[in-house]
Amino acid sequence: MLAKLRVGRFDPETSSPEPYFQEYELEVEDWFSVLDALIKIREEIDGTLSLRCACRASICGSCGMRVNGRAKLVCKTKLDSVWSPGETLTIEPMGNMPVITDLITDFTSFWDKVRQIDPYMQPTGPEPEAEYLASDESMVHLAGVMNCIMCGCCVSECTVLEVDENFIGPAALAKAYRFVADPRDGKAEERLKDLNEPTGIWDCTRCMQCVEVCPKDVDPMGRIMVMRDLAMEAGVKSTAGSRHTDSFVNSVKRSGRLNETRLTIESIGVMNIPGQLAMAPVGVKALLKGKLPPVRDHKIPSKKAVGEIVKKAEGKN
Ligand code: SF4
Ligand code: SF4
Ligand code: FES
Repeated sequence: MLAKLRVGRFDPETSSPEPYFQEYELEVEDWFSVLDALIKIREEIDGTLSLRCACRASICGSCGMRVNGRAKLVCKTKLDSVWSPGETLTIEPMGNMPVITDLITDFTSFWDKVRQIDPYMQPTGPEPEAEYLASDESMVHLAGVMNCIMCGCCVSECTVLEVDENFIGPAALAKAYRFVADPRDGKAEERLKDLNEPTGIWDCTRCMQCVEVCPKDVDPMGRIMVMRDLAMEAGVKSTAGSRHTDSFVNSVKRSGRLNETRLTIESIGVMNIPGQLAMAPVGVKALLKGKLPPVRDHKIPSKKAVGEIVKKAEGKN
């Protein structure tokens, strides 16, 4: 079969370096992975093509690239699962990271963020005679997140990182969960306090991209949501995100509906006068457009039924 690949190229050493695409045509076999096709190009057509790979078995995490616009491990991606004869397959470097050359991205900020969450066990209390023990059950639970191979696919597609490079991001937050949820670690509360700061757990917009592209089913977004719950249960509530959650739930409990005026005021913080003043022009504009709801709650007729749903969601019935 003849395949056509459109491959992202970038050479920083030229006088005016700009990324561009180069097309290659090559004979492929039906058992080829996308990585097999790229290696064939490099070995038989164009030795200048740079790419990163090692294990070729979805273990090392080094071959993340965008295939038709979505991050994937190219060694795990069968060519015929993303390409059909007659089509052109597009392969680019991953997103949200600087490109070093061609298909190779710079993981410096990725590793800086992993280091930022203190990615090592911090037990407290008396040292055991032999070793720190964890139940089988807790280790089975942690195995899901320990499957992470640090490939960066989730970071590549994170919609928050696209607009805010300071966000800690899905991979480092999943790694943080690995220690927060480990019964042998004694610093869960301190970790949650740190992660509660701006750029941490409350900056995720729950877009699900990290969940969809993760090749190891780590579910970074799910781990972030659990850490939000754990932070709130531990009384770590100093951010707009946690106040927003509290205000939202309380509003629905009170009236069965959302009171957006109170939600805004309570999320910013009632005592945060500069923050409230900064929002005032938005409030005036909304008022003039007739969009600002009244400060008092307007209960809906089926408030009781909504209350039952809230109780169920809270596990109270
Ligand atoms: S769910 Fe959150 S962490 Fe995951 S990609 Fe979206 S914004 Fe990023
Ligand atoms: S969470 Fe998944 S996508 Fe993100 S780095 Fe780990 S294995 Fe890769
Ligand atoms: S080459 Fe190791 S994960 Fe793809």
